[in-house]
Amino acid sequence: MNFYLKNFDKPEVIVHTYYENDKKIKDLFEGKEGEIVLIPSLDENKPHILYFGLGEKEKLNNNLLRNNCAKLLKKIDELKFKNILIEKIDFGNLDEEKFLKAMVEGLLLTDYDFKKYKSDDKDKTEKNVYINGFNISNKNNILNEVSNIAKAINNARDMIAEPTNNLYPEELAKRAVEIANESGFKIEVLEEDKIKELGMEAFLTVSKGTKNRPRLIVMEYNNGGDKDFIGLVGKGLTCDTGGYSIKSHEGLKYMKSDMSGAAYVIAIMSSLAKNKCKVNVKAVVATCENVLDGNSYKPGDIVKSMKGKTIEVLNTDAEGRLTLADALYYIIDKQKVSKVIDMATLTGLAGSTFGSLFTPIFSNNDEFYEKFMETAKETGEDFWRMPLDERYRSYIDSDVADMKNTGSAGTITASMFLKEFVDDTPWIHLDIAATAIQWPVVYEYSSKGASGVTVRTIYELINKGV
Ligand code: BES
Ligand code: ZN
Ligand code: ZN
Repeated sequence: MNFYLKNFDKPEVIVHTYYENDKKIKDLFEGKEGEIVLIPSLDENKPHILYFGLGEKEKLNNNLLRNNCAKLLKKIDELKFKNILIEKIDFGNLDEEKFLKAMVEGLLLTDYDFKKYKSDDKDKTEKNVYINGFNISNKNNILNEVSNIAKAINNARDMIAEPTNNLYPEELAKRAVEIANESGFKIEVLEEDKIKELGMEAFLTVSKGTKNRPRLIVMEYNNGGDKDFIGLVGKGLTCDTGGYSIKSHEGLKYMKSDMSGAAYVIAIMSSLAKNKCKVNVKAVVATCENVLDGNSYKPGDIVKSMKGKTIEVLNTDAEGRLTLADALYYIIDKQKVSKVIDMATLTGLAGSTFGSLFTPIFSNNDEFYEKFMETAKETGEDFWRMPLDERYRSYIDSDVADMKNTGSAGTITASMFLKEFVDDTPWIHLDIAATAIQWPVVYEYSSKGASGVTVRTIYELINKGV
């Protein structure tokens, strides 16, 4: 989709935006939130008219606007319009900058489809969207910034949608390198011998049963002078069958997306670098696949993490925390970051609690947590804090090792497990198991792919300084 912040005299369709009761056309159009009415033109030299409702003026905020613009774009796609003019809009309560940003975000994030494997996808014509009426001086910067973020999220969506036969650790690393080179951040990919040297037995044990060997992807973007480095860690399971603790048929279907955390971390790095943000960030992805053969790790195995703590593996499907344990310890101990955020499709139970709306958030630092939540309010991504209470530590006590990799109270005990590897470093853990991809779709703009949840919030948080 191409965007132009100016008028256009030959559109196929002109979009007029109204608030509730601004203009009432009998009962056909009342300006209600998300309401869309098409008035077709019978003269082929004249454009069609589309009325678009934004609901009550006093209630409009950037989140509603983003979702409404997503609805608008879906309608435009359905009607197959390619040249669209959106006429001057009354900004209501929002300032012009926020209005433009939310609007473009809604449109760009919705403009996604994974059609790579469709043989009959002939329609390659790009849409041209003209938006009229913005007078702010930095409108092109806003457009540029949002486009870079949307592009990064769409790259992440492509990786998440890619099946396991075509996206395995080596390929994920290759794509990360391409994105790093194009965006302007540093990247190093460590192969198995180096990972072994680092002592990451917890990470390595997960991929014992596959010829698709693991990779440790280490990324760095430094444009922030002497600012501290923020650390990002993403779960990168390109395939999670559960291993010997094998998943059900139903559970197996979508496990190509178990690398969503990794894809989002790469997207955040790309957004920060492309927008030349004045920040310092390091990121680590421990990518592998959890499949089943005679060499696979087995329930009851005991492994030693890079930190030196021993882990009794009682469920080979709780593999994400084994990879994250070493990745978190590595980024804190070896990469010396001052704060760290991890995102991981870690526990199915996150969805049993919150569905696809709220991402459970855990933190050992109130200030860090509050800054995160303040930012999330602006980006419209929903998070809900969960307890990291020491009393839950006993849930992961093992009879034979320092800890075990399961325990009831699943989403919480998974976090208690990770906490063992971050100690006092300010840390946020986001369990995106049910929100990375949404069933049902809660954010309008994520209907055709992964939601991208966490990317915009973490980008803004790091950009404004934590
Ligand atoms: N990748 C899964 C979690 C998951 C489930 C993500 C469904 C997305 C949708 C993770 O590795 C896993 O299998 N976790 C187990 C943990 C349990 C064995 C303690 C789970 O959720 O069942
Ligand atoms: Zn698993
Ligand atoms: Zn998993």
